[in-house]
Formats: sequence, C-alpha cells, structure tokens
Amino acid sequence: MTYEYKLQKLDLVQIANQFGTPLYVYDAEKIKERINYFKSCFSGVNLKVKYATKSLSNINILKLMKKEGLGLDTVSIQEIYLGLKAGFSPEQIVFTPNIIDFDSIKEAVELGVSINIENLSNLEKFGKEYGNTKACCIRLNPNILFEIEKQKANGIDRTNINKEHYSKIDDGRKSVWHNQSKFGISLTLFDELMEIINRYQICVNGLHIHASHVIMNAEMFMKNAKVMFDLSKHFPHLQYFDFGGGLMVPHKPNDEIVDVHKLGCEFEKEYNKFCKQHNKNFEIWFEPGRFLVSEAGYLLAKADIVKTNGSFDFVGINTGFHHLIRPMMYDAYHEIINISNHKGVSRKYTVVGNLCEIDNMGKDRMLNEVNEGDILMIKNAGAYGISMASNYNSNYRPPEVLILDGEAKLIRKQESFDDIIRNMIEIEI
Ligand SMILES: Cc1ncc(COP(=O)(O)O)c(C=O)c1O
Repeated sequence: MTYEYKLQKLDLVQIANQFGTPLYVYDAEKIKERINYFKSCFSGVNLKVKYATKSLSNINILKLMKKEGLGLDTVSIQEIYLGLKAGFSPEQIVFTPNIIDFDSIKEAVELGVSINIENLSNLEKFGKEYGNTKACCIRLNPNILFEIEKQKANGIDRTNINKEHYSKIDDGRKSVWHNQSKFGISLTLFDELMEIINRYQICVNGLHIHASHVIMNAEMFMKNAKVMFDLSKHFPHLQYFDFGGGLMVPHKPNDEIVDVHKLGCEFEKEYNKFCKQHNKNFEIWFEPGRFLVSEAGYLLAKADIVKTNGSFDFVGINTGFHHLIRPMMYDAYHEIINISNHKGVSRKYTVVGNLCEIDNMGKDRMLNEVNEGDILMIKNAGAYGISMASNYNSNYRPPEVLILDGEAKLIRKQESFDDIIRNMIEIEI
C-alpha cells in the first residue's frame, strides 16, 4: 500500500504540527494538473471553463483559477463580489443561481456578469425589465429521467448512479434532470418558455444544463448535448452552450467514473458537425467544481480519543460534520489514513467526529493502529468541505493552507472566540 502523506515534498504531519489541527490543506499542483487535464479533454472545442466557486471559495483558490485562465461560476451575489475581488472581470463570471429573487438578478445585471435564468417567473420579469437590451442564458431541464426509467424497465441500467448520494441531492426524486426536480425549466414547458421569449423579444445567448454529479455519465451527457444542439434552432442569438459541472471523482480505488477524455472526443465530433452546419464557432462552457479541487484537498485531524464500546473500536477526532458534512449528509465515502503511524498493524475502527451527534466520518475503516495524538488524513476534502462548514457547537471552522511552489502558505487564519460572538447583539434580558 502507498501512503500519500507528502505534498510537493512537504510532510503533512509536520504541516499539521506547524499550523495545528483540524486543518484544510490544498495542493496547488494537483489543482493545476486537473485544470490542464480538463482543458486537454476538450481541446478541440471553443472551450470556456467557469470554475464553480461554491465548491471551494477561498479567494486564493479563485486567484489560482484566474491565473490558469479560467472564468467563474457563481450562485450568489457574494460569490460575484468574491470573484471581482479576486480580479476576474464581470465578463468572465456567470451567475447561475437557483431560486433567487429578481432584485438579485438585477444586481448581477448591473455588475455586468452573464445571467442564467432557471424559472419562467424570473424570465418574465427579465423580459419586462430589459426587453431585448440585455442577454440571458436559459437553464433547461431536459427531462431525461424518463428515458433512463424506460431503459431500466427494460433491464438496462447504464446510469452509474451513486445511490448513496442520490436522494439527498434531489429530494428522493432521483435526478435533477426530470420535470419534478426544482432545477431549470422543464422541456415540458417549452411552449410557455418560447411565448415569454417572443413576447419580450428576449435575447437568449446561451443554453444551460447542469447534471448533479451523482448521475453524470457519458451516455446521458451526449444525449443531452444532442437535445441542446437540436433546440438551438429556436434561439437565433445563441453564442454558447453551458454544460454545468457534475463530473465525478473517485473516492475509492475501484470507483467507476466518467472517462472525460473519451467524452471529450465523442463530444468534439458532434460539436464539429453542429458548428459546420451553422457555420458558427459556438462556445462550450463548463462549470466544474469538484473535478478540479476535490482530490487536491485534505482535512487533517487529530485523534483525541481511542475507545472501545461493545464490539466497536472508535477513533474520536477533533473535527466532525461541522467541518466536513459530506459523510453525514450524503453518506459520502472519504478515505481516511493514519499518517502518524503508517507502519502500524492494520485494525478496524469507526472514525467519529466530536459533535454531540452520531457524527460518523468513516464506519468500519481499516487503519494502521491509532494512538491518541496521531494525525489522520481525510481525503477528497477539497470540494464542498470548508465551503459547507459551520460553527456548529460554537466550534471554530478550520484554517486553510495552500501548498504553492513547494511552500505551505496559510490562506485562512484560525478563528477565535471573537468570530463566534461577532454578530450577536446582547440585549437586556
Ligand atoms: C449550476 C451548477 N454548476 C456547477 C456546479 C458544480 O458542480 P460540481 O462541483 O459537481 O462540478 C453546481 C453544483 O451544484 C451547479 O449547481
């Protein structure tokens, strides 16, 4: 077995000792490698990559993305401001919120970013407010679940669905690509959509779909690409197709994930045919988050308590779902390694966090023998780790370190009690 406890030649135990735990650590080289790989997979198309800010929004990560030539995908006004502060121009930023009031859309229009609209109510307001003076992109919901259900009824299941994550993402209704999910404008409403566009002469410059990563596979992707290309005939001002994010990353050694290179080659063929037919070099946008940063991030934690209850050996660590919510929220599997004792005998433990809840981080894990004080490394923690963290139990959120050019740099400082109390207003009780 190999142990990845060094990043750019820096020892992670030493980093944990230097900065304290719990600690998020990111490897800039790994992020760059992922970006370059992604770009190489789609090198044959007019590609624009808009990094999904929500996955890991530290301003230094955003600056790194900018330096690597990416744009930004944002879902709140605050994320737009973060992007602008990181040096992105408004034209490089797309605003793809979900369930947002129209005032926020107006604010985003004023800030000059690309607008994505995902419901008829806001589209109508957009038309009334701007007519054809501002362009927008439409987020569609291609309703493809029915195709998949049909296949399944015939005994075919090619969806590669990660069933553990499935229900939490989409409310038990199995996919964001069906007309009962809250996302996008269902194609069953296409006539209504076109009626609003025509009534206000709205300039639609982009078509967008995003598939949650739990359902992403090449076959579905290509199917949707064809649907999108086919729909383009209704939108004379179209300049780009935005395929969102949703690419999976492996969490276990044998996890099957989409072969992005193969997908890119297949896509390129359809794209070239389509562009030739229309004599136009359409832009292809993607909004990857997880794919670029998940594997580049580690949560380092200290084993505070090792205890046995009944037949279970527990390792209690100084973090929990307030810092990494994915195991508890999605039953997500994050590999855990004892980087302090990599030669110890392998034993089965349940790794638990320190919240007053069940707070499992990993059940029945084989770890090299854990002693109190050891440092455990939780992998795949770059995406939706710190960005979903909270101060639950009045705990501090972890600091963050970026390994850049062989040096460990603090990019978020340790919180203090002032951060916990800052916005509380004490009144006379
Ligand atoms: C519209 C949109 N784009 C991009 C993303 C990023 O997805 P991922 O991090 O899985 O690539 C999301 C995630 O929810 C999203 O909703």
